[in-house]
Amino acid sequence: MSQLLIVHHSQTGHCARMASAVISGACHGDLVTTVVAKPVREASVDDVLSANAIILGTPENFGYMSGAMKDFLDRVYYPLEGRVEGMPYVCFVSAGNDGTGAVRAIERIASGFPLKRVHDPLVIVGEPTDEQLSACYDLGMYVSAGVEANVF
Ligand SMILES: Cc1cc2nc3c(=O)[nH]c(=O)nc-3n(C[C@H](O)[C@H](O)[C@H](O)COP(=O)(O)O)c2cc1C
Repeated sequence: MSQLLIVHHSQTGHCARMASAVISGACHGDLVTTVVAKPVREASVDDVLSANAIILGTPENFGYMSGAMKDFLDRVYYPLEGRVEGMPYVCFVSAGNDGTGAVRAIERIASGFPLKRVHDPLVIVGEPTDEQLSACYDLGMYVSAGVEANVF
């Protein structure tokens, strides 16, 4: 069985809307991947170890990922060292006007595990539009389908 972990954080709701759409896409009815979605403070080392791929969703705060997302990556780094090499990942970011700092920070830390990026980061500025939520849905579906087909 394939399993996909979606770890997400939101303070004012924008990234939460993105996460809901990503989760919906990952749970597309034609797919059998088990989708585990966790608010970042509830996500654990075991959640990652049980997964075949991971999606990280965060707002950009002060030119970086959110503190809660950084805390998650700090918490799991040593316990996962050497145990998730090459795990497929993607990230999505909600930003007020930029988003590149959060993406850069996630990519840098991901390269330390190292995880394997399997899709470009999805950055959305402000309240997501229906079209942007559709892109979030597609991202979730893409990763879920890729995990199921074992193509990453
Ligand atoms: C403390 C704080 C710092 C922020 N710093 C940035 C920033 O550096 N760059 C940016 O583009 N937006 C920044 N923002 C705006 C948020 O990224 C933006 O409002 C985002 O959509 C919030 O997502 P959320 O609603 O899921 O919390 C900041 C917001 C807060 C609360």
